[in-house]
Amino acid sequence: MNTSPTHVAIIMDGNGRWGKERGFTRSKGHYAGAQAMEKIIDASIELDIKIVTLFAFSSENWSRPQDEVNYLMQLPVRFFKKKLPEFMKRNIRVLISGNQEALPEPTKKVFRKTVEATKNNNGIIVNFAFNYGGRDDILQAVHQVIEGVRNKKIALDNVNEQMIQQFLYTKELPDPDIVIRTGGEKRVSNFLLWQCSKSQFYFSDVYFPDFTKELLQQAIQVPGTPRILSNRLTR
Ligand code: IPE
Ligand code: IPE
Ligand code: MG
Repeated sequence: MNTSPTHVAIIMDGNGRWGKERGFTRSKGHYAGAQAMEKIIDASIELDIKIVTLFAFSSENWSRPQDEVNYLMQLPVRFFKKKLPEFMKRNIRVLISGNQEALPEPTKKVFRKTVEATKNNNGIIVNFAFNYGGRDDILQAVHQVIEGVRNKKIALDNVNEQMIQQFLYTKELPDPDIVIRTGGEKRVSNFLLWQCSKSQFYFSDVYFPDFTKELLQQAIQVPGTPRILSNRLTR
């Protein structure tokens, strides 16, 4: 029987400090974080996790120095171009959660292309949270509902939790069973605010570039970790 949670969400924090403490730049830390991400995707497949959500850029991260923001915008372009053939070979489906409109064209394009190319793959889902903010997610869902009410496509009486859920960036996914944050900080930093209402939280002091399959396995095997039972796949 599969004992892994269905949906694991990871706040990949600590890249900048990893770089600085090794005498490198913060960007070097982000590059190392992207390499760790490749290993964590592999590990998630090996651990039979069905969905892994990876928080890579928050709606607040625009306030970082311009050169760091630029680096973070182009990193997924390199990453997804390199990984697409392997994603196809390994049946990996990619989803993106977050406000895509505000992104530079090459970043938008690589996301569009990757999501489109992998849409019929039915292996693990890698949901990449980029320019994602939990408040923004709820707000944009509310805007869509208001629009629907205005067009008379939605009756006000039918607006309930299930309906809001259908308009979230993560509409295709069940809520995460567990949210893991690396890098030592114990806060949610505007991640999946609606979706984590019943999730387990796990904090690791390890900086994300040093996060490994073994540490992921430990995180998801915390004794007594409650699962969102409705999320479990019956097999
Ligand atoms: C997480 O690492 C990645 C992003 C937020 C883009 P940080 O860049 O926040 O690294 P620290 O927390 O400053 O070490
Ligand atoms: C959270 O980390 C966002 C990501 C990992 C993408 P931050 O480093 O941006 O969060 P704060 O600033 O510590 O709250
Ligand atoms: Mg940080």
